[in-house]
Amino acid sequence: MQEKIDQYTAEINAFSPANADELEVFRIKFLGTKGLIKDLFEEFKAVGPEEKRVFGKVLNQFKQMAEAKYAELKDGLDSGLKAQDLSLDLTLPGDGFEVGSRHPLSLVRNEIIDIFKRLGFVVAEGPEIEDDWHNFSALNFPQEHPARDMQDTFFIRKGDGSDDIALRTHTSSVQVRMMENGKPPFRAIMPGRVYRNEAISARAHCFFHQVEGLYVDENVSFSDLKQTLFHFVQELYGEGTKVRFRPSYFPFTEPSAEMDISCTICKGDGCNMCKYTGWVEILGCGMVDPNVLENCGIDSKKYTGFAFGMGIERITNLKYVIRDLRLFSENDVRFLKQFQTDII
Ligand code: PHE
Repeated sequence: MQEKIDQYTAEINAFSPANADELEVFRIKFLGTKGLIKDLFEEFKAVGPEEKRVFGKVLNQFKQMAEAKYAELKDGLDSGLKAQDLSLDLTLPGDGFEVGSRHPLSLVRNEIIDIFKRLGFVVAEGPEIEDDWHNFSALNFPQEHPARDMQDTFFIRKGDGSDDIALRTHTSSVQVRMMENGKPPFRAIMPGRVYRNEAISARAHCFFHQVEGLYVDENVSFSDLKQTLFHFVQELYGEGTKVRFRPSYFPFTEPSAEMDISCTICKGDGCNMCKYTGWVEILGCGMVDPNVLENCGIDSKKYTGFAFGMGIERITNLKYVIRDLRLFSENDVRFLKQFQTDII
């Protein structure tokens, strides 16, 4: 019996498995239910009392040694296998990851907001689904008046057949909400998405983005309007950019004007962008019509105000010369990545 124990001990100590299969063969051979250690314990039952005293201890120690060896080999094999499976090369560089960039329209909108914030304007927002009152009636568009056709509206027909709900056609609706719910003075800009029923092409889209502005207080005059917008243009397009005002018509302002700036591309020499006139139109503006003030519960004898509205897409085009409006909504990262120079 001692002989066998010595022989097995030597075999166990020398054993070094190359893989899990070899270790399993080892386990079955020595530690299995029909293994050699089990046999030794069977043999042990048959020996005399004298030998039992000697071998009891020896046999148990041998069994523990075999089990410990198995556990140790299994551990070693497991961790070895893990490293092998992953085939880790710790010197490999990590995977790069893409940093997103801001949409050019957001960049320009934020720039516009910043300029007006420095002049004391706050930002106001309102719903994109509007009722007739806020989008039209309060703004002096009489029912059935052709002025409503200036803006091709997406009406939303309700269950009862009425259609006084629409996608807002301009953010002037936010001006109405602001004046209805507060007291003058007001000095705010309203950025937001607006909708018009136009066929999608390089030059038109069924939605676009606006920033409108409103300033209502005592003694606000057209010269305040001119100077505010002149300052805005100098900030956005650089000192020396010229402006000119042309008479125009909007139901909600009187007098009304459109403002042109000297072409940002050719600096007034004439190019494709300004159709060789040297000027490009960037916004509509005017003094808030007294009817609009009254519609919103503001005393038009005491208060006057100016308002203006511009399309962010147009302003962005003049900054970056983007020839096709559709690029703004396609979200092609190759386009979007070209605008942000700093990572915020
Ligand atoms: N709401 C007008 C538009 O959608 C722009 C505008 C705003 C004009 C304020 C004058 C005053 O085109």
